[in-house]
Amino acid sequence: MKQLIDKLYEKQQLAKDEYIHILNNIDAASSEYLFEKAREVSRRSFGTSIYTRGLIEFTNYCRNNCYYCGIGSGNKKADRYRLSREDILDCCKTGYELGFRTFVLQGGEDNHYSDKDIVEIITSIKQDYPDCAITLSTGEKSSSSYQKYFEAGADRYLLRHETANDEHYSRLHPESLSLADRKRCLYSLKEIGFQVGTGFMVGSPYQTTATLAEDLLFIKEFNPHMVGIGPFIPHSETRFASEAAGSLELTLVLIALIRLMLPKSLIPATTALGTINPQGREKGILAGANVVMPNLSPVSVRKKYSLYDNKICTGEEAAECRFCLAGRMEKIGYQLVVDRGDYKG
Ligand code: SAM
Ligand code: FES
Repeated sequence: MKQLIDKLYEKQQLAKDEYIHILNNIDAASSEYLFEKAREVSRRSFGTSIYTRGLIEFTNYCRNNCYYCGIGSGNKKADRYRLSREDILDCCKTGYELGFRTFVLQGGEDNHYSDKDIVEIITSIKQDYPDCAITLSTGEKSSSSYQKYFEAGADRYLLRHETANDEHYSRLHPESLSLADRKRCLYSLKEIGFQVGTGFMVGSPYQTTATLAEDLLFIKEFNPHMVGIGPFIPHSETRFASEAAGSLELTLVLIALIRLMLPKSLIPATTALGTINPQGREKGILAGANVVMPNLSPVSVRKKYSLYDNKICTGEEAAECRFCLAGRMEKIGYQLVVDRGDYKG
């Protein structure tokens, strides 16, 4: 096991069967060795600085119905909301004062916002906060829409591939969605010039160590600037309501493997990780992550952006979340920094 970890550390890649071997056989002692290596690489790239992104969940309307997702169109009990441009700018104002220099606009695939609306939102944020980066996470769009957002000033785009295995993809999504389309979007975003993030849930239904190895191979090939991975957590109003959540240990192992594969990539310790374990985000950082994404959405809508059950930080004000995370990071020897936190390849 140690030999394989050392090989990944040196060469930044392994073969599919080697990843499968690690995932099937890793024990607590070799996980600790893996985390140490991943921490070392992360420290070499970023020191003890942790980048922050202010997450603005601006709509929970979605035309899709991904089977795992609590805000899919199939959930008739979801209490739907949309934020206006003014609401979003208010979140940015609060965020800027708290030291955020990246705003992540995330939402369901909501056609209520035209390209013109999105462009206006981007332009207004850039006008008021020219020193900030904007990350979009609004799902699959045409290349021409992506191009418009980029020209308006958006810097980054998050679109998880969810799984790199076609059959697995079709068991997680309705027929209207395909892995091929998702990949087309990802490659188009990269070509346009965005810093692009992809990723997947750990422990999603029907996932195997073989599909996880395919995820790792795809990530290496695509070479994203950012990689978001977090545990799958069931939502009571979805068809996966009674499935088990993904495990903390496996999520940490995957974060660490990705850190060794892509030393400079921006990897968040996600809210989902903090939801399955009270120390999840700290453990994520200690396994090689270097980003946290506290919630900047107005408290009045937070509970409504319910992707999975028992999501943390839905009652706190933005300032509380920021201070809470700053304290958590300091306790483990890291600091939140006031920085856009761009990818530096
Ligand atoms: N609509 C955009 C998209 O699909 O990329 C952005 C919003 S979507 C809710 C953001 C991410 O949430 C998805 O990529 C998915 O991996 C994650 N997610 C959805 N449901 C989840 C669940 N039950 N547990 C953990 N993560 C989940
Ligand atoms: Fe669209 Fe989850 S199904 S955001």
